[in-house]
Amino acid sequence: MPEQFEVGFQPPVSHQDLPSREGDLPVEAIHDKLPTADGGWQPYKAAGKLEGKKALITGGDSGIGRAVAILFAMEGADSFIAYLPEEEKDAQETKSQVEKHGRKCYTMATDLTSPENCQKVADAARKELGHVNILVNNAAFQMMQQDITDITNDQWTKTFNTNIHPYFYLAKALVPHMKRGDTVINNASINAYIGRPDLLDYTSTKGAIVAFTRGLANQQVSKGIRVNAVCPGPVWTPLIPATMDKSAQEQFTAPLGRPAQPSEIATVFVFLAGPDSSMMSGQSLHPNGGTVVGS
Ligand SMILES: NC(=O)c1ccc[n+]([C@@H]2O[C@H](COP(=O)([O-])OP(=O)(O)OC[C@H]3O[C@@H](n4cnc5c(N)ncnc54)[C@H](O)[C@@H]3O)[C@@H](O)[C@H]2O)c1
Repeated sequence: MPEQFEVGFQPPVSHQDLPSREGDLPVEAIHDKLPTADGGWQPYKAAGKLEGKKALITGGDSGIGRAVAILFAMEGADSFIAYLPEEEKDAQETKSQVEKHGRKCYTMATDLTSPENCQKVADAARKELGHVNILVNNAAFQMMQQDITDITNDQWTKTFNTNIHPYFYLAKALVPHMKRGDTVINNASINAYIGRPDLLDYTSTKGAIVAFTRGLANQQVSKGIRVNAVCPGPVWTPLIPATMDKSAQEQFTAPLGRPAQPSEIATVFVFLAGPDSSMMSGQSLHPNGGTVVGS
C-alpha cells in the first residue's frame, strides 16, 4: 500500500466508536511533517512566525487540532486545548509533543456544547496563557445519514450544538479581550461548498461557520482583529472511521490522489494565525486536495 503522502494512499476501511482516538487508527496520521517530492516526508520547517503567541484550540487532542497545536508550538506559540473527557489520552500525547518543542500546552476536558463550559474554557485559557491571541474553533461532530428522513431531530440539534454554537460562545467570550493583530480561525469544511448530501446536518453547520466568519470579520475588522475560515477536504483523522460507512471510506480521497494528512491542513492555520496573512480577513481558504470551489 502507498504510504501516507504517496498518490494512491487509501486508509483501510475500519470502524471506531465515537469519540474516536488516534491510537485506534489502522494507519498512523501525520501531524508534524510535510511531503517530499519522492513521496516521503520531512519535518515541518518553522520560522518563528508565532513567537510568543498564545492559542486556544478546541478539539486540540487529535486530528487537525493536534497538528495545529504542534505546528503552532514549532512556530513559538503556547496552547490551551479543550476536548471531550474520553480523549484524555490523545490530549496528553498532544501536550507532550508541544512540550518537546519547548512550548506550554494546558489541557481541559469538557463538553463544549454547554455555553457555561465554553465560558469556563475561555476563562481558564486567559488565566493560564495570560492572553489569547489566536482562537482556533475546530471541534466538531458528524454522522453520515443517506436521506433527510434518516436524520433524527436529536442528531440535527447535536450537530448544531457541537459544530457552530461553541464557535459563537467562545468568540463572544474572547474577542472582547483581543487586540489588534489577534485572530479567530474557524474550521469549516469543503462540504459547505459542494453540498455533501449524506452529511446534510454537518454540511449545514459548516455553511453557518463560513457565514459566521464573514459577519464576525466585518464586525471586528476596524479593531484589527482578523477572522478567517479553513475549509479542508478529506483528511485522515479519527473522525473518519467513526462516522463514515464502508463505501464513503473507500472513496475517501481528493483530486490530488489521496486524502490530506492533518499536518497539511495545519499549515493553513499557521498562515492565518501569523503575519503572512496580515491583509486577510473574512476569507475561506481551501486545502481540499484540488477540488475547485467558489470562494
Ligand atoms: N477529517 C476530515 O476529513 C475533515 C474535513 C473537513 C473538515 N474537518 C473539520 O476538522 C475539524 C477537526 O476534525 P478532525 O477531522 O481533526 O477530527 P478529530 O476527531 O480528530 O477532532 C474532532 C474533535 O472534536 C472534539 N469534540 C467533538 N465534540 C466535542 C464536544 N462536544 N466538546 C468538546 N470537544 C468536542 C473532539 O474532542 C475531537 O478532538 C472539524 O471541525 C471537522 O469538521 C475535517
